[in-house]
Amino acid sequence: MATAIIIALLAITHSGIAHYTKFPEGFTFGVATASHQIEGAWNVSGKSENVWDRLTHSRPWMIADGTNGDIACDSYNKYQEDVDHLAYLGVDFYRFSLSWARILPTGRVDHVNPDGIRYYNALLDALAEKNIEPLVTLFHWDLPQSLQDLGGWANPKMIDYFRDYSDVCFREFGDRIKSWITINEPYEICEDAYGDDKKAPAIDSHGVGNYLCSDNLLKAHAEVYHLYNDTYRPQQNGRIMISINSIWYEPSDPEDAEQVALAEVANQFKFGWFAHPIFTEEGGYPAVMVENVAQQSQAEGLPKSRLEQFDDYWIERIKGTSDFLGINHYTTHLVTGPGVDPIAKSPSWLKDIGAVTTMNVGGDSASEWLRVVPTGFANLLRWCKSSYNDAPIYITENGFSDRGDLDDYGRIQYLNDYLSALLHVIYEDDVKVLGYTLWTLMDNFEWRAGFSERFGLYYVDITDPERLRTPKLSADYYKQLIAARELPEDDRFKNPAHIDRSEL
Ligand code: BGC
Repeated sequence: MATAIIIALLAITHSGIAHYTKFPEGFTFGVATASHQIEGAWNVSGKSENVWDRLTHSRPWMIADGTNGDIACDSYNKYQEDVDHLAYLGVDFYRFSLSWARILPTGRVDHVNPDGIRYYNALLDALAEKNIEPLVTLFHWDLPQSLQDLGGWANPKMIDYFRDYSDVCFREFGDRIKSWITINEPYEICEDAYGDDKKAPAIDSHGVGNYLCSDNLLKAHAEVYHLYNDTYRPQQNGRIMISINSIWYEPSDPEDAEQVALAEVANQFKFGWFAHPIFTEEGGYPAVMVENVAQQSQAEGLPKSRLEQFDDYWIERIKGTSDFLGINHYTTHLVTGPGVDPIAKSPSWLKDIGAVTTMNVGGDSASEWLRVVPTGFANLLRWCKSSYNDAPIYITENGFSDRGDLDDYGRIQYLNDYLSALLHVIYEDDVKVLGYTLWTLMDNFEWRAGFSERFGLYYVDITDPERLRTPKLSADYYKQLIAARELPEDDRFKNPAHIDRSEL
C-alpha cells in the first residue's frame, strides 16, 4: 500500500489535503445499462408486457415527456453497435440486465422463450469477442405484468418465482457470466413502486406495501444467492452480489448533535434497510427501524407493527448472502431536524424516520434529486466500511444527468470530483473499493423522467428511427481515464467556467 500511496499522491492542494489521481492496481472500470431502459422491442418475438410497459401505455401522463420504452435505444437490434462503443471506451466490464418478460413471458418457468435466450446469447458472444466481461443484473425493475397481477413483490410467492427465473438464467448463461447482481436497488423497488407511485407499478401503499415488499425481496435475494452458491458456483466459479442505492444523509449542521443522530437514523432507514440484514453479523432489519415503525404503528392503533423483524431462520438465511457490497450512489441530501417531513404521507417510510430532510445542498444537475456533493460519497464509503465489516465494495452505479449536452462539462466535473473522493477514501481510509461502474453508456429511458434527464456518455437522438448514438466529450474523458487508469488532466476536459469542488 505504501508504494501505491506514493505513486498515487500527485499533489497536495493548498489546504493540505492530498489529491490522488491514479487508481490502484487491479481496479476495474465499466458502464451500466438496464434492459427496459435501452432494449425497446417491447412486444417482439415473444416478450410479454412488464410493469413499465403497462404504466407507460395506460398512464402516459405519468412520464415527464410522454415517452416510453417501446423502442428506447433499440438495443435489441443495435446491440452489436453498443458493444463496439463499449470497446471504443475500453471498459473492463459491461453491466446490463436481463428482461424477465423476454426470457419467461408468463413470468414462470412453464415456457422459456427461445428468442429471449438467443438475444442474450448473441450479446454475450459479442462481448466475449471484444474481451469485455459481463456483469449481469437479474432484476432491474421490469417485472412481468403477469406476476404483478398476483401482487408482485407484495406476494410471498415471488420468492419462488424469482428463484425459478434465476435458475433458468444461471443454467443458460452461467458458463459465460461470472459476475451476477441479483437485484438492482431494492429501496427504489419497495419504497418508490410499492410505498409510492414514483416507479411502476406505482402501488402507493405507503407505509405498508413497502415493508411487505422488503420482506419478500430480501428473502428472494437470499434464496437466489443460496441457489447459486450451492448448485452453480462449484462448476461456474462466479460471484454474486446485490446493488443497494443510497441517498446519503448528512446533518445540515454537523455541530448539531440531534441532527447528527437523525442523519444516522435516516441512513439506517435508507441504506441499512437492505444492507443491515445482509452485511452485519447481527443480521435483520436495523434496530432503530424496527423500533420506530413499531412505535408509529402502535400510535396508529394497529395490533402489529407494519414492519416486523425477520424470525431467526430468515435472519440466518439472509445474512452473508452477497460476495461484495454493490453500491449505487449519486447524491447526498440533508437532515435539518426532528419531525414529520412536510412531503411525508401518512403512514409512510419517510414519516417513520421522524426527520425533516432537504435537497438544498451542493451543485445542480438536470434531476431535481441529484445534487452534486462529492464529499457525501466519501462519507458514505467510510460509513459503509465501519458499518459493514469492511466488506469489499463495487460501485455498481454513479453518474450525472444533464439535458443531453455534447460538451458535457458538468458530467466531466462530476466524474472528476466523485472519482477524486473515491480515490481519497481508498488511499486515506483504506476503504476496499475494487471497481467502478458509470451510469450510463448512452442516454436512455430514465423511468418517469422519460428522455428529459440524460445520463449517457453517448447522446441518443430519439427522433431518429436509427437512434443515432453520438459520443459526448465525457466519452473521451472516460476512455482516457480507463486507458491511463488515472484521472485525465487534459485541458480539453476543463470547463471554461470551471469551479473546483475537488477538495474534501
Ligand atoms: C437506477 C437507474 C437509473 C439511474 C438514474 C438508478 O437508480 O438503477 O435505472 O436510470 O439511477 O436515475
